[in-house]
Amino acid sequence: MSRTVYVNGSYLPEEEATVSIFDRGFLFADAVYEVTSVVRGKLIDFDGHMARLRRSLGELALSSPVSDEEMLAIHRELVTRNDIDEGLIYLQVTRGSAGDRDFAFPPADTKPTLVLFTQAKKVIENPAAGTGLKVISIDDIRWGRCDIKTVQLLYPCLAKMAAKHAHVDDAWMVRDGLVTEGSSNNAYIVTSEGTIVTREKSQSILHGITRAATLRLAEEKGLKVEERGFSIEEAKNAREAFITSASLFVMPVVEIDGAAIGEGRPGELSRRLREIYIEDALKTAI
Ligand code: PDD
Repeated sequence: MSRTVYVNGSYLPEEEATVSIFDRGFLFADAVYEVTSVVRGKLIDFDGHMARLRRSLGELALSSPVSDEEMLAIHRELVTRNDIDEGLIYLQVTRGSAGDRDFAFPPADTKPTLVLFTQAKKVIENPAAGTGLKVISIDDIRWGRCDIKTVQLLYPCLAKMAAKHAHVDDAWMVRDGLVTEGSSNNAYIVTSEGTIVTREKSQSILHGITRAATLRLAEEKGLKVEERGFSIEEAKNAREAFITSASLFVMPVVEIDGAAIGEGRPGELSRRLREIYIEDALKTAI
């Protein structure tokens, strides 16, 4: 069945939605995005995603074509029109089209392009949560502003393909000997003392909205959290490993570069954190 999508003020069947071939998102990846999850027809952490969108836009001197209130209304309209019970909403803002290809930014009054669409997907009852994910490590050769959520996702696509060719689920990226993050998620280990370790916030990683919620909930439950880098060697010897993202929530990782983590099954703490995260998300979704 055809989806209803949103493009620059109009709700259209997906086959009829178009943007210019001169759009800077298409020509230069001059665009930012957000992915917000939907559970029981409601949006998880919408304010967090909007705050990060504002920050990404600001860092690139991009402007949003609509207010946060209008953005919320568009998200809700798409959920209703597409009858989404569980899934994701993808949002992209580009610097628009200047009607030609020129590296320099177009005049300030150029209208940004705004596109949103839904993806129906089981986010809570994801069978992968029962088995856990396998990952490989690869070099992180991305640019120096991974904290801005841009649509320059070619390297993450190549990372996913490297994982696919290795018959695993994802790749953890390593820079200067330490894991930065997964191809489209934040990466964690649990030490033998039960401490949750994840890379500190910097320009080298995306500041995940799910990361913020997970760390807050972990601390509220009295769990110890350390924000620092860790090596693949330390990860292989960890008790547990997991990732977080808006599309996977808290998802256990059971193998890194062929080495089983702990007993090679989703760890106890990862499973508990997933439950705690989902419980909180269901309570706070709007
Ligand atoms: N990706 N790190 C990277 C590189 C990401 O692309 C993402 C999200 C995350 C997790 O952020 P959050 O918890 O806010 O989803 C971390 C989204 C889901 C995507 O590109 O589909």
